[in-house]
Amino acid sequence: MPAVSEEMVALSPVDRDHLENGRAVYRQACANCHDPIAVRGKSAAYWTGYVPHMADHADLLPADQADLLNYLVAAQLEATPRKQRD
Ligand code: HEC
Repeated sequence: MPAVSEEMVALSPVDRDHLENGRAVYRQACANCHDPIAVRGKSAAYWTGYVPHMADHADLLPADQADLLNYLVAAQLEATPRKQRD
């Protein structure tokens, strides 16, 4: 799972601390039942739809869920060629 980069921080509406927390949540809370799903190849809409469903499984606090989603969307954007970003 990608480290938080300067580019991800630039692409995200939230600051680095939130993205680092989101990454930690992903590693700790989302890998209990299955390997963390690869970020590459998914869309922001995919994560927006999936995270609430999985956050129920993982019993996430709302703030952690928000950080997780911001992390996944920023990582997804970074992995997307510039021309294909929406
Ligand atoms: C309690 C076990 C459990 C936890 C914790 C969990 N998941 Fe899942 N996850 C599943 C199961 C079971 C499925 C497949 C069935 C479904 O969609 O519910 C799945 C499927 C998925 C999929 C779809 C995979 C695909 O190939 O389409 C994604 C994405 C996902 N999980 C992300 C997450 C994220 C992000 C978290 C952390 C918030 C998380 N999961 C935490 C059990 C879990």
